[in-house]
Amino acid sequence: KNIVILISGGGSNMAAIVRAAQARDWRGRYGAQVAAVISNRADAGGLVFAGERRIATEVVDHKRFDSRESFEAELAAAIDRHQPALLVLAGFMRILTPGFVARYAGRLLNIHPSLLPAFPGLHTHRRALEAGCRFAGATVHQVTAELDHGPILEQAVVPVLSQDTEETLAARVLTQEHVIYPRAIEGLLRSGL
Ligand code: GRF
Repeated sequence: KNIVILISGGGSNMAAIVRAAQARDWRGRYGAQVAAVISNRADAGGLVFAGERRIATEVVDHKRFDSRESFEAELAAAIDRHQPALLVLAGFMRILTPGFVARYAGRLLNIHPSLLPAFPGLHTHRRALEAGCRFAGATVHQVTAELDHGPILEQAVVPVLSQDTEETLAARVLTQEHVIYPRAIEGLLRSGL
């Protein structure tokens, strides 16, 4: 079974998933490989890591296209060459059309750095601090047409500390993202996806 991961930046979640898929003690449990990492930005740091791990990488630059649909058509073609059982969004910062989401329905995952349904959208950590939340966290969910909605697969909770800044809170949440994303994928693959 193939996994394709879409990124836009540093790709630390992607790296956590690749490490899990390639680790000897995980391989039997995963029974799947990361076949490709695709970025909409050529400068996404995660592409270097994926290349070092001998994973196929590709860039589909959204700025080359004059509509979301034409960008997604090329993106889907690049994805489908790897026939993924799972398509994983990991810091992929493009909004997807309902048509694209429907194409991968049931095998499309996202991670969001908040305890959904709180704080969908951007600037989650700033908004959690402004709201005076005592806890924050991250959510792995199935992707549906509505942004940052869809059935929840895994969540992790972290405390908000009184001296937290956006950066310190984001870093604490990110360490938990790296735990729950590989776990959610393992669970889905085991469920016979
Ligand atoms: C993560 O916090 C993810 O939840 C959010 O963007 C960040 C991406 O980090 N959507 P990375 O590229 O996986 O390091």
